[in-house]
Amino acid sequence: MGTRIVGTGVYLPKEILTNFDLEKMVDTSDEWITTRTGIKERRIAKEESVVEMAKGASLEALESAKLNPEDIDLILVATLTPEKRFPSTACLLQAELGNKRGYAFDISAACSGFIYALEVADGLIKSGKVEKALVVGAEKLSETVDWSDRSTCVLFGDGAGAVVLERSEDESDILASKMFSDGSLWDILYADNCGYIKMKGRELFKVAVRNMEEACRKVLEEAGVSPEEVDLVVPHQANVRIINSLMERLGIPKERAFVNIDRYGNTSAASIPIALHEAVQEGRLKRGDLVLLTAMGGGLTWGATLLRY
Ligand code: UT7
Repeated sequence: MGTRIVGTGVYLPKEILTNFDLEKMVDTSDEWITTRTGIKERRIAKEESVVEMAKGASLEALESAKLNPEDIDLILVATLTPEKRFPSTACLLQAELGNKRGYAFDISAACSGFIYALEVADGLIKSGKVEKALVVGAEKLSETVDWSDRSTCVLFGDGAGAVVLERSEDESDILASKMFSDGSLWDILYADNCGYIKMKGRELFKVAVRNMEEACRKVLEEAGVSPEEVDLVVPHQANVRIINSLMERLGIPKERAFVNIDRYGNTSAASIPIALHEAVQEGRLKRGDLVLLTAMGGGLTWGATLLRY
């Protein structure tokens, strides 16, 4: 039994905040942000809640899969900015979609949340318990950054991405995946209840490159695929310098990485599904391609997934 990816979708808030806008808010410059991170602008959800963004991405993904919300058996939302303490954002999304057939829960693994959610959904599908799953990454990080702290506020943005997965009797799009965590490093990146994001950036940078490389090598090994065979890498968009170092260490030309951090900044759990959708839309990702997804985030958590899209 296999898992096919049958639809993708995104929701991106209309409001754009550029580096030049930030220059007026904190002591920073477009030059610093661009050269240190690759970010030029990010989206800010002024009007939209995290559930509304999740709904927008889900409806687009369902439409591209030619399915209705009622066809879905499992709804997973990866988020570090849940709408409420409880119920889960996934349950609120289920209500918004008018789905009564399935069950819903959130995955809390910060920026690695989408990788974790994909593995959970894939496992439930392959075990025969679930036939169709909706996996969403949705974040309203603008509410959890301190807009007077230049070391973090320039990095993050809002948005949502979704994929629809379906059980298949023959081939699987998900070839291999691995999740990791090391709770002893939690204080490198965290936010207290109702608090702002706190980050030890330089430390995190080094761990991110090392751990994502390790995760990528493990999934490639498990699938018997060499790095040169990978057609596209869709990494978590935290910093373009992290992406470039990762590509270099893996020995994959950096042109094979999908990068959209310039337009959206770091959208945490939403970054991979947004990038995946754009890669499909832009024709960078075609059916049959080997695609490597990888992320690293608070927890610390990290992981990788290899797809034959
Ligand atoms: O999504 C989860 C994963 N996230 C990550 O993996 C993020 C990893 N970390 C990073 O991407 C980078 O560490 C940052 C982009 C956060 C920071 O870049 P950096 O090259 O590591 O800079 P730094 O923190 O070492 O700071 C260098 C200098 C400092 O000044 P001094 O001490 O050298 O005088 C900072 O105060 O840059 C200063 N600085 C800024 N200057 C202008 C920090 N933030 C800013 C800013 N504008 N926004």
